[in-house]
Amino acid sequence: MFDYDAAFSRNIGWVTEAEQAILRGKRIAIAGMGGVGGSHLLTLTRLGIGAFNLADFDRFEIQNFNRQAGAGLSHIDQPKVEVMSAMARDINPELDLRCFPAGVDEDNLAEFLDGVDLYVDSLDFFALDIRNKVFAACAQRGIPAVTAAPLGMGAALLVFMPGAMTYEEYFRMAGHDEEEQALRFMLGLAPARLQLSYLADDTRVDFNARKGPSTPMACELCAGFAGTYALKILLQRGAVPVAPRGIHFDAYRNRLSTTWRPGGNDNPLQRLGLFVARRMVMAKAAASPPAAPRARAVERILDLARWAPSGDNEQPWRLQIVADDHVVVHAHDTRDWCVYDLDGSSSQLAVGALLENVAIAASAEGMAVSCERRPDTPDNAPQFDLRLRTDPAIEAHPLLPFVRARTTQRRPLSTRPLSAAQKRALEEAVGEGYRVLWLEGGERRSMAGLLFRSAHIRLTTPEGYEVHRRNIEWGARFSEDRLPELALGVDWLTRRVMRWALGSWRRVQNLNRFAAGTWLPRLQMDLLTGLRCAAHFVIVAERPLDSVQACVDGGRAMQRFWLEATRQNLQFQPEMTPLIFARYAATGVDFTVVEKERELARRVANDLAGLLGADTDPRCRVYMGRVGFGPTPTSRSVRPPLETLLVDGGE
Ligand SMILES: Cc1cc2nc3c(=O)[nH]c(=O)nc-3n(C[C@H](O)[C@H](O)[C@H](O)COP(=O)(O)O)c2cc1C
Repeated sequence: MFDYDAAFSRNIGWVTEAEQAILRGKRIAIAGMGGVGGSHLLTLTRLGIGAFNLADFDRFEIQNFNRQAGAGLSHIDQPKVEVMSAMARDINPELDLRCFPAGVDEDNLAEFLDGVDLYVDSLDFFALDIRNKVFAACAQRGIPAVTAAPLGMGAALLVFMPGAMTYEEYFRMAGHDEEEQALRFMLGLAPARLQLSYLADDTRVDFNARKGPSTPMACELCAGFAGTYALKILLQRGAVPVAPRGIHFDAYRNRLSTTWRPGGNDNPLQRLGLFVARRMVMAKAAASPPAAPRARAVERILDLARWAPSGDNEQPWRLQIVADDHVVVHAHDTRDWCVYDLDGSSSQLAVGALLENVAIAASAEGMAVSCERRPDTPDNAPQFDLRLRTDPAIEAHPLLPFVRARTTQRRPLSTRPLSAAQKRALEEAVGEGYRVLWLEGGERRSMAGLLFRSAHIRLTTPEGYEVHRRNIEWGARFSEDRLPELALGVDWLTRRVMRWALGSWRRVQNLNRFAAGTWLPRLQMDLLTGLRCAAHFVIVAERPLDSVQACVDGGRAMQRFWLEATRQNLQFQPEMTPLIFARYAATGVDFTVVEKERELARRVANDLAGLLGADTDPRCRVYMGRVGFGPTPTSRSVRPPLETLLVDGGE
């Protein structure tokens, strides 16, 4: 019933009948039947290649589903080589297959490459040692070798031909440890680095854990590349770019880049790229590692809840696990040193976010949470008793997946407006007792101007200086207890100037006096971001936030809004300082020794009242910020491990 000529007749035209017969007589070795290897095998089989040597020691698992040709429920736990051989034989039952179910290693390398016309590399990215050996053996035996690497939503191709530059001459792996080799492999594969600009969550690239994200599209593009170059090499047709030349096509960016790196990784451009990449990897290693799975439900709940936001990542809480169903939150505020924590209300909003997170996280465990403030605890250090109760009626909260992903984006965003459905979802998220005011379109300009003026207060008062000096972690991309420098959302020069200036109050004064020092940061951090967003919003409560409980409840509404924004794939930045200065102005509190800035706060209060309309009582304004479409930040505040936040009662 099977007929080779009929099965592959539609190739004829792009290849001649004679060429098809040549392809039928060829043997290709593929090491790795996973992400790209499976697709390579199926593509090359459909091209009519007649024989393969296939190696892989692995079995299919659920994490392979996103990209591997053979991964699916019916193949879970089955050896990849077996599954892929069966799939290929389903296309061409006459295939001559030699399988290496223990994978390729030094001992079977000679056999694996025996009689092979072409080697197509599909080994796991991090299988660096054996890859070096396979390529070296190909060079020795005069076997052409192709590697097509899936990168983001594109593919990069390198070809090593007999007598030309070898894999080792190109990548320069010898004498380097595994981590450095991984960097060298990555950078050598894709000197154009087209994929980096759209990496949405770089926390998922973990060189140390040997893990990285992948897409099915990239694997299919790789198979297209490898199939084409197999054809060209085996039929000796058309030009083949041989290393140190390479091709990188990125479907996402709609770009094709041909690269030429004489000397391979020894090329000065590559050396520079490697230097930068090493620094990035080191910075990531410093970020907190993912938490180990926890045994107790109460720990799992708190481990997730600790990702609540707080002003400057202060995390004004400690957590006490009294029993599996009882937690005490020991909160505190920072009003005695932080000018932005007026009456402790910023801290209380953050505590509200934490409590909301606990309730959402508990839903994953099928638990309900009741929360009560201990009546005898002071306003500046309130304690809350949380009782956890298993309730079969509780289902996972729809915002649960977004607790860990929620973050602050301080960079300019797209001005694409929110849809009506998105606004409705956000308005519903705040819940009863709250409403949302939107400032969109032209109002954004007024808001940007207001933010720009208000920022003057932040940058020219000694009270603001004290806070910024304390709360920025310089040189950091991730910070456990402060704002990392790179999350500030300003360019390199501004960061350098800010860092220098914050070394002493005198420097700030001189910079402001002689060099208009506030302009650079204000333009980027306030004016530009104020203009570049979909909308500004203010969450308004029906009743004034005149108690700790009212602020905590407001914080819960804020957190629901923020998580819903994350669910809507929106980026989010709080813009709290104008609200705070306006409240200082309304209450007549002398929050700074600088009279001119107290006057400016009164102007900010008036402008805000003008923008928000007369019907909003300043005491009812819970939270202000901006939202919009844009990339997830690559630098963010993280959190210390749960253990660091736990306390013994002292009761
Ligand atoms: C009450 C409160 C006020 C905040 N005010 C601001 C603000 O005015 N500007 C800003 O950029 N971020 C502000 N933030 C964001 C925090 O700095 C941020 O949540 C914290 O650093 C943790 O980072 P993450 O949100 O990325 O997890 C505020 C957060 C809270 C909870």
